[in-house]
Formats: sequence, structure tokens, C-alpha cells
Amino acid sequence: MTVGAGEPQEVVGPVIRPRRLRRTPALRRLVGETTVQSGQLILPVFVREDISEPVPILSMPGVVQHTRDSLRAAVSEAAELGLGGVMLFGVPSSKDATGSGAIDPTGILNLAINDAVAEVGDALTVMSDLCLDEFTDHGHCGLLTVDGEVDNDKTLAAYADMALAQAEAGVDMVGPSGMMDGQVAVVRRALDAAEHSRVGILAYSAKYASAFFGPFREAVGSSLEGDRRTYQQDPGNVREGVREALLDVAEGADIVMVKPALAYLDVVRRVRDAVDVPVAAYNVSGEYSMVEAAAARGWIDRDAAMLETLTAIRRAGADVILTYWAADAARLLAR
Ligand code: PBG
Repeated sequence: MTVGAGEPQEVVGPVIRPRRLRRTPALRRLVGETTVQSGQLILPVFVREDISEPVPILSMPGVVQHTRDSLRAAVSEAAELGLGGVMLFGVPSSKDATGSGAIDPTGILNLAINDAVAEVGDALTVMSDLCLDEFTDHGHCGLLTVDGEVDNDKTLAAYADMALAQAEAGVDMVGPSGMMDGQVAVVRRALDAAEHSRVGILAYSAKYASAFFGPFREAVGSSLEGDRRTYQQDPGNVREGVREALLDVAEGADIVMVKPALAYLDVVRRVRDAVDVPVAAYNVSGEYSMVEAAAARGWIDRDAAMLETLTAIRRAGADVILTYWAADAARLLAR
């Protein structure tokens, strides 16, 4: 039944007025359901070997590859801003088939962990990416068989060695991100056997083969040709993401992560409801660059879009967010 134009509508009882709670800033604050706090944000940081000045990453305006010195300044600032942590990525100057630079104690990532921990101590959680792709000349996250396939179990042995090197360098949490089966269990066992049981695991549990990683590949000078579809997940699969997260919890993950965040908010929610450990979401490079590019053209309000993005990821169920905006967002939130 349609009501004719101009005909008075009969209202039964009082008008229900949700707008009453939106009238003033204080009321809106009072009934706000979702908060974003600096301490819940983790800043991903790139450190490059053999450079004397920070190098801007063109596809990620405002983000740089750090020198070891500028890394120290960045982590010290992150601590002052009250961030929850930093996630370190290494960009080595030479790569090989086995990614040996990832395990070498003098490899750039292990040196960077050392530097960061020396700079901030316990004021910040220092985390490191635990994956071979930045260190392999073929750009895959693992070791290859003679046929060029990623060999799951040989890769696990390399991850165990890499975890030990990072633990020796003083890291607080490692972030296995290669999507090999059993990686959390192998890393946990290796750490515990070497008396590094204090080192935690932030597991990249539901990581999708995503186009939104595009700018990151420039950031780390990736040499990947082809794709990662034999180990990263199909974007259409949500049950599989929950399954991966449950497996990682069973294998000993302290925090499980969904990545990317924005196109996968339903996965974040499903994982949040399925596990009893903190859930992280990675607001990835492409998500950052889309907003930055539109803002640079005056097409979008950058700061508002940034805070709305982070709020939405929290609303979907993420306890922790990895975001290139971490420092900028902390500054905005402190106002
Ligand atoms: C793998 C890794 C990737 C990202 C974080 N860790 C790239 C990939 O899987 O291809 C992407 C992060 C981003 O896009 O911001 N070591």
C-alpha cells in the first residue's frame, strides 16, 4: 500500500528518535561503539641495506625505505606516539635462491631488529616479518623444488632458522607471513627448544593472493614473477580463512591476522568470532595508496578517510591493526 503525496501519515505512539543520541558531540561520544587507540596500531617499517639516505617509495607517498639510522629515529618516534609496535621488513642488496640473507645474523633485517630493540627497549613491541620473499632472487616466500614449485617442508626448516636468527637479534614477536602449512608449529617448536619461549608469534593466518599488495612489491624491490596462488588464499574463500586461523591457534599463535583488511572485513569478523586470541588485520599497501592517491588529487578528505578506515577495521572485529598510517593516526587521535 502506498501513501499518497501530501496525505498525513498516521503515527501510532511516539516517534522513535535515534537522532536524539546524535545531537551533541558529548552524546555521540557517550554512545560510540568503536574506538581506535594508538596502542592498538602497529607501524610496518622498511629498512634497506647499503643506502645512506632514506629512499621514498613512489607508489606509497609518505612511506620510505629507511637507513639503519633513520629506522632508529622512526621507532623512537613510534614509541613516543604510544604505538603498539612496529613490524620490520628488510630490503637486502643481494638475494639468492635460498634467501640466506634472512638467516645471516648480519643480514639487514636481523641488524634492524637489533637496532630497533636497542633504541626502544620495552617501550614498543618490536616485530619482524618472517618470510623469505624479500631475500630470494625468485621472489617466492619459500624454497623451490627443481621443478620450480614452492617446497612446503623444506621452507619450514628455513623459517625455523630465520625465527632463531630474529630471536637472537632480540625481537619480541615474529610474524610468519609465508602461508606454508605448519609454519606456526615449526616456529614455536624452534623458539621453545632454543629457550626463546618469550618470543611471541603474530601469525599471518588468512592471507589472500591479493592485488592490494601491489605497492608493497615496489617497497621491498620484489623480484616475483607470476603469483602466489599455490600458498596464498583465493579471495572468494571465507571458511578457509577461519580454518587457517583455527589451525594457527592450535599450533601456538599468540595473535592471528587477516590480510588485507578492507576487502576482507567479513573474514575479520568471522575469525574474531571463531578464536579466543587477539585478532589483527593488515591495512595493506594498496589500501593506503588508494586513499593517498585520491587525496593528492583533492578527491577525498585524507584524514577523515584514514580514521574511518581504521574505525571500520576495528568495528569488524580487529583488536590490532597494522597500518602505514599508524604514526599519522596517532597524531590525529592525540588532538
Ligand atoms: C610477504 C609480505 C607481503 C606483504 C607483507 N608481507 C607481500 C606478499 O605477500 O606478496 C604485503 C604488505 C602490504 O601490501 O602492505 N613477506
